[in-house]
Amino acid sequence: MQDHEHPQRPDSGFSRRAFLRGSGAAAAATALATGPGIAEAAQNANQKTAFVSGKGTQQIKLTVNGKPHQVDVETRSTLLDVLRYQLDLTGAKPVSIDETSGACTVIVDGKPMSANTLLAMACVGKRIQTVESLGGERPDAVATAFVHNDAMQCGFCTPGFVVAVRAFLDKNPRATEAEIRKGLNGNICRCGTYANVIQAALEVVKGGK
Ligand code: FES
Repeated sequence: MQDHEHPQRPDSGFSRRAFLRGSGAAAAATALATGPGIAEAAQNANQKTAFVSGKGTQQIKLTVNGKPHQVDVETRSTLLDVLRYQLDLTGAKPVSIDETSGACTVIVDGKPMSANTLLAMACVGKRIQTVESLGGERPDAVATAFVHNDAMQCGFCTPGFVVAVRAFLDKNPRATEAEIRKGLNGNICRCGTYANVIQAALEVVKGGK
């Protein structure tokens, strides 16, 4: 298609559109070359503008941690987006765009699910439980066991692990170590605190909680 506003000069073989395309690629290359700082800032900027309600949004009701919430969502909005950017429940983390990290694990109708691969609209009428419901003044036994067993380093994976352990032990209260290892294999810890996480889960099994 011809760029009518800035037509291609016959002698240059180069158009404004081609330049913009090129500079976009250069900016992306610069972001990669200068490390995660710039790329992260760009991502944060995108996230901040992701949920302006208005045209194209729809109001739905979600039940999160026992409380009803009215939120404006687009059809493409994920549950993770709504939790973090509308309800300010930031425990579930946006680590991977698929289900490979487990950092965004929440419990939906009793099942552990990745909040970033669930559409918010698909969660209407369901019970959503986030890690925030397992903390507070009277923390859940799983959260307490994580503290006892020093089951974290940087802590980025920890909310996902705590939720995954809670969901797994709710279904398997007498799980063995081997079963716990298998049950948690959807969660990844880059700091490698797996042994302590397993010990924490076993402590909850022993305590019958
Ligand atoms: S404690 Fe750092 S990623 Fe698990």
